[in-house]
Amino acid sequence: MRPFGNWLKHEKSVKSDLHERLIGENVPEHVAIIMDGNGRWAKARSLPRLAGHHSGMLAMREVVRASDDLGIGYLTLYSFSTENWKRPLREIEYLWRLVDEFFALDIEELVQRNVRISILGDTTELPAATQTTVNRALAMTVNNTGLKLQFALNYGSRREIVTAVKKIAQMTVSGELTVDHIDEAVFTNALATAGIPDPDLLIRTSGDQRISNFLLWQIAYTELYFVQEMWPEFKRRHLEEAILAYNSRERRFGGLK
Ligand code: FPP
Repeated sequence: MRPFGNWLKHEKSVKSDLHERLIGENVPEHVAIIMDGNGRWAKARSLPRLAGHHSGMLAMREVVRASDDLGIGYLTLYSFSTENWKRPLREIEYLWRLVDEFFALDIEELVQRNVRISILGDTTELPAATQTTVNRALAMTVNNTGLKLQFALNYGSRREIVTAVKKIAQMTVSGELTVDHIDEAVFTNALATAGIPDPDLLIRTSGDQRISNFLLWQIAYTELYFVQEMWPEFKRRHLEEAILAYNSRERRFGGLK
C-alpha cells in the first residue's frame, strides 16, 4: 500500500464527496476487478445485452480514470475469459468491437496520463483487427511509468496455471532446473503475471460471490469485496468506497496481528 500519489495531478476529475475522507488514506497497490452484470443491467432496462456491454465500457473508462487519479499502481480488469467464447457469436464480435473502440478513442488520454497497458491472456486467438489495435496500444504505452493497466483478454487462470506447469516441466527436462528447486517463487515467475504484485483488493460487481477462473494463484491473500451494483452502475464513488472498506480490514497473511 502507498499514500495517494497522483491525487492532485488530476484533481479536476475527482468530484466525489468521499474525496476529503480519502486524503491521507492508503490505496491498495493492486486492484483487480471482475466486471460482471452488463447483461442483467441491460435486461432490467429492456435493452439488448450489447447495450449493457457498451455501458460497461463507459463504466470501465471512469474506473480507469479514477484509479489513475487515486494513485493505484496496478489495475487488472477481467474483460474476456477463456469461457466467454461459449457466448453467441454476435455478442463475442461486439465485445471485440468494443475493445477496438476503447483502444482507438482512449489511447491518447491513456498516453497523456502515463498509463502503461499490458495484456494477460492469449491474444493470438483474437480477431486480427483487434490484435492490431491491442499491439498498437501496447507499443504506444510501453515506456510509460504510471498506472499499470492490465486487461485480462481471453484469459483463464487454470489455463495460465497449466501453461506455467508445462514451462517448468520443460525446464526440468532440459536440465535448466531440478525438481528440488521448484518452489513457490519459481511457480510465480512462470505465470503470465510474473513480476506483478498479487492483487491487494479484488472487486466483483453484480452480487455474485465467486471467482470465475480469475487469478486463482495470485489471490491467495487478496481482500475480496463484492457489491450489488451491476458493472455499468459502478462509478468512481464505488471504487472509493471499496478502498475505504479495504482500509478497514486487518490483513494478517496467516500470521498474528
Ligand atoms: C460480464 O457481464 C462482462 C463481460 C463478459 C464483458 C466485460 C466487458 C466490458 C466491460 C467492456 C470491455 C471493453 C474493453 C476495452 C476491455 P455479463 O455479460 O456476464 O453480465 P450478466 O452476468 O448480467 O449476463
